[in-house]
Amino acid sequence: MNFESKVVHAGDRKRRKGAFVPSTTPIHLGTTYFYESAATLDRVLGHEEEGFCYVRYNNPTNEALEELVTTLEGGYGSLATSSGMAGLQIAFQAALTDRPHTILASDSIYGATVSLLDQIMSPFGVKVKYVNMCDLAAVEKAISEVKPGCIFTESVSNPLLRVGRLDKIAEMSRAAGASLVVDSTFATPILVRPLDLGAHIVVHSATKYLAGHGDVLGGVVVSGDEEHHQAVRSIARINGPLLGPFESYLTMRGIKTLAVRFERQCRNAKALAEWLSQHPCVERVYYCADPQHPDAEAIAHCFTPGLFGAILSFEIKNADKARVLAFMDRLQMIVPGTSLGDVHTLLLYPLIASHRTISPKMRERMGLRENLVRVAAGIEHLEDIKADLDQALRAPANTLG
Ligand SMILES: Cc1ncc(COP(=O)(O)O)c(C=O)c1O
Repeated sequence: MNFESKVVHAGDRKRRKGAFVPSTTPIHLGTTYFYESAATLDRVLGHEEEGFCYVRYNNPTNEALEELVTTLEGGYGSLATSSGMAGLQIAFQAALTDRPHTILASDSIYGATVSLLDQIMSPFGVKVKYVNMCDLAAVEKAISEVKPGCIFTESVSNPLLRVGRLDKIAEMSRAAGASLVVDSTFATPILVRPLDLGAHIVVHSATKYLAGHGDVLGGVVVSGDEEHHQAVRSIARINGPLLGPFESYLTMRGIKTLAVRFERQCRNAKALAEWLSQHPCVERVYYCADPQHPDAEAIAHCFTPGLFGAILSFEIKNADKARVLAFMDRLQMIVPGTSLGDVHTLLLYPLIASHRTISPKMRERMGLRENLVRVAAGIEHLEDIKADLDQALRAPANTLG
């Protein structure tokens, strides 16, 4: 099946028997499962027979969503989690099972992930080191110095859209015996498939493109092999940060239109990036289709040909924080918010949102300037998005030339 068909069909009508087999998976709210004989329950609890026992171990709605995302990423198995961050924490813990408690992370990642590493993992004895994942020589050197048990990167970084050679990083990671965990939230399995490039675990904030409509908080952890999947599930079986069945249902419903949504969002983003790069109020545009992009080679290697993602960032000429906030207040249709991946275009100011908790020193290292905003293109008509940005940029306070 092709991707466009898998998003519509995978996960549904699985393992269902009897007179009523819904064509799409419904919401199963039951917490506990009943069997005619205690012996059957014993076998199911003992993993000798397939079945459901208790919602923290799994339920049919989550299982269908997990099967769907596993299929899309080409993985071994998945876990649907209560948020993307919960998924990342489980992925790190699973990656470090039986491996040295050191994480080598990209220095260009989502702010809350830096907080997870520095404020949650680190106090529990996990050493965290940061490196520029787009500099392969630096990655190789860091691996030989810190001997990590886990290497972590985003397939497309937030918000400056840096892209590393995942295949090369995976090679180095495997040679060093480390697990490679990739946050592929920005990319979706349409743009990049990290497991195909050698990663061990892929994490998505399902809150974004997978669910896609601004009404779900969730995550998915996809493992490429049995060892990592079992480690992920064993942790979740105990601490249970699972996605609720209602959210699983909504995410699955969202994914059915992922291919059509994302392709249009990519088209809108590309056109916006081209238009903004000629705009008199814009200093610089960051977008993966830019031939001058510092990671053009990695993009050509890792991305699906012809697509460059649905996110772009740009710096507003002569804007300080007050001017950026005023620009956001002038937006009429575009939603100024702290998310991405929805059907409506979202504009985020990293300084006050995704990277608020990052120290100024780390922000400088990441190259995040005070005048940078990030746009996650929606599916609206391109001319409406342009018109809204244009009027907000051209208002007297910003037309400084
Ligand atoms: C790249 C990336 N990863 C992970 C997350 C965390 O996702 P969630 O909010 O679902 O926990 C976000 C949220 O913005 C994100 O942008």
